[in-house]
Amino acid sequence: MFSLSRFIKAKSAWRNFNTKYQFIDVKKEEKVSIITMNRPKASNALCDRLIHEIVTQLKKCDRNPETNAIVLTGLHKVFAAGADVKEMEPRTFQGNFSTNFSSEWDEIAKTRKPLIAAVNGFALGGGCEIAMMCDIIIAGENSKFGHPEIKLGTFSGAGGTQRLTRAVGKAKAMEMLLTGELISAREAWQSGLVSRIVPDHDVVDIAIKIAAKIAANSQPMAMMAKECINQAYESTLQEGLEFERRMFQSTFAFYDREEGMKSFINKRDPEFKDA
Ligand code: HXC
Repeated sequence: MFSLSRFIKAKSAWRNFNTKYQFIDVKKEEKVSIITMNRPKASNALCDRLIHEIVTQLKKCDRNPETNAIVLTGLHKVFAAGADVKEMEPRTFQGNFSTNFSSEWDEIAKTRKPLIAAVNGFALGGGCEIAMMCDIIIAGENSKFGHPEIKLGTFSGAGGTQRLTRAVGKAKAMEMLLTGELISAREAWQSGLVSRIVPDHDVVDIAIKIAAKIAANSQPMAMMAKECINQAYESTLQEGLEFERRMFQSTFAFYDREEGMKSFINKRDPEFKDA
C-alpha cells in the first residue's frame, strides 16, 4: 500500500545520495550502476565540473565490489553536446598547458569495470568522445553522432581523432572530423561505432539489461577480458596474443574459473563469487 512517509523518506535518501553532485544523478540496480548526466539547460555541455563528477563516480564504481558494470547516459534529447564552449571560449594556450586541459577526460577511458554508453539524441564533439571511451555504445534510433568542433575553429581534443579513426576507419573519420557533419544512428551502426540501434525510449533499459548480463558473469573475468580487448589497440598482434595468453592462464587462479567449468560439467548454473 502507498505510504506517504515512506515515499518522502525514500526521496530524501535519494537526494542525500546525490547531494554532492550538481550535474549527474546516480542510481544502482543490483550490480549495475547508472550515471545520468543531467545538465539540461546547457544540453549536457561537458563543463569541467560535469567531467569531474563523472570521473569521481566512475572511480567509486571501480572501488565498489558491489558494482560489476556501469551505464553512462544523458537526457532524452541529448547525450552530451560536447565540451562547454562558453567555459572554453576565454581559455588560453598557456592556461590549457599548465592545467593540462582535457587530461581528466581520459580518466573515463581508464575505468576498469565494463562501461556502456546509452545514447539518445546528440552525442557531439566531447559527447561523442566520452561515448567512445565507453566499451559498448547503445544508440537510440534518432541519435546523432558527430564532431562539429571544426566549425568552432578547433578540433577534437579528448581522443576524437584517435578513437573515431580506430572505430570507423580513416575515410569516414576524415569526412566526419573535417566537415563537422553529423551521422545518423544507422550510419554509426553501419560503420561499427555503435553495437546496436534500439527504439529511443528503450535505450537506457536495454543498456541496463546488457550491463546486468555482464554483471551476472564473474567480475574479475569481465575486467580481465576488457583489459585484453583494449590491449588490441595498444600493441602488435603478437604482443596482444602474449598478453591474452598470460591473462587466460591466470584465470586458473580464480574460484570463478573452477566454478564455471564445474557447473558446465554438472549441468547447472554457475554461482560466481567474483573471486
Ligand atoms: C555550451 C551549449 C553547448 C555547448 C548547447 N549549449 N551546446 N553550451 N557548450 N557545447 C547550450 C546552448 O547555448 C543553449 O543555451 C542550450 O544549450 C540549448 O541549446 P540549443 O542550441 O538552443 O538547443 P538545440 O537547438 O536543441 O540544439 C542542440 C544542439 C546544439 C544540436 C546540441 O546546441 C549544438 O549544436 N551545440 C553545440 C555542439 C558543438 O559544437 N559541440 C562541440 C563543442 S567543442 P542558451 O543559454 O542559449 O539557452 C568540443 C571539444 C571537445 O566538444 C574537446 C574536449 C577536450
